[in-house]
Amino acid sequence: MAYSRITGVGHYVPENIITNEYLTTLMDTSDAWITERTGIKERRYFTKGKDTNASMATEASKIALARANLSATAIDFIIYATITPDYFFPGPGFILQRNLGIAGIGVLDIRDQCSGFVYALSVADQFIRSGMYRNILVVGAEIQSTFLNHTTEGRGVAVIFGDGAGAAVVQATEDENHRILSTHLHADGTYAEELYVKEPGSSGGERFYEQLLENPQMGDVVMNGNAVFKHAVVRFPEVIKEALAHNQLQSSDIDLLVPHQANLRIAEYVRQQLGLTPAQVMTNIQYYGNTTAASIPIAMSEAWEQGRINAGDLVCLAAFGSGFTWGSALLRW
Ligand code: COA
Repeated sequence: MAYSRITGVGHYVPENIITNEYLTTLMDTSDAWITERTGIKERRYFTKGKDTNASMATEASKIALARANLSATAIDFIIYATITPDYFFPGPGFILQRNLGIAGIGVLDIRDQCSGFVYALSVADQFIRSGMYRNILVVGAEIQSTFLNHTTEGRGVAVIFGDGAGAAVVQATEDENHRILSTHLHADGTYAEELYVKEPGSSGGERFYEQLLENPQMGDVVMNGNAVFKHAVVRFPEVIKEALAHNQLQSSDIDLLVPHQANLRIAEYVRQQLGLTPAQVMTNIQYYGNTTAASIPIAMSEAWEQGRINAGDLVCLAAFGSGFTWGSALLRW
């Protein structure tokens, strides 16, 4: 029986640091408000002419491949999660494939927003378990700064999000003791409009060009922060407990929880609900903001660099986001 295992992780964040203080020059906000409500102190924005969604993913992938000690030519499938692609279509997975010089292999671009990486990892796990592929590159990358309204009108959303990319090499293994134990995916489309970008879209029937003429706010993120918060604090613990119960484990068995970096207050609430210590929960939202599909692989890569993930550790990934979507993955590293 083939299992799958993460053998290398990597991340890339743009060099351009955007502090809370800088945002106060663009909109009516304050470091105190942002820190108190979200925990975020700074985030990264891409540099025009240098970074794109796929270029950041390429850098993160090269690091993950090097750590896995695997050549890009050994990759037989790419799964790429993003909501902020370089082009409306095709997705950035094809550009990543081109950048890595591995034309010919299959590429799957997926959305699933803040849960995108967990969904992508789950698909990779199933493809490997079924025997279809052996070496899959799984990526989460976002350039969200171009979608944000940097005026006081957009402050409820603009202060939260940032840019970055993370990648994981997932490989087939026979080793029962070091593998992805299980993944659990959920969604509830009842709440699709609680966190969304309405336009450009096809639902209104107008050409994109006409949508733009009629709606200067086209592309703005619309978020009911309160509803997102209320659902997140229920779904995070629920889906983590589901993963633990499925594997006859308890929260005290978790060596490191790597939650999607949505909000420090949400992470803290989840930590308390599960009775975890701060050392058992990885947080880096303070430095990168919410990077949507990229947040879990960035956090996982940083935790690995910091020596917080070691062979044999029980690592739990958990996500909640727009859709609403939520999911978890339990790994024996
Ligand atoms: N700076 C200063 N004031 C701001 C602000 C900002 N950046 N954004 C909003 N405000 C103001 C509002 O206008 C409002 O003012 P009012 O009371 O005069 O009307 C006040 O702050 C409270 O706004 P509210 O939206 O009720 O704040 P909140 O306590 O719910 O916090 C969020 C807002 C977005 C931080 C919070 O709801 C949250 O974190 N939700 C989850 C979001 C999330 O995780 N999204 C990603 C999911 S993957």
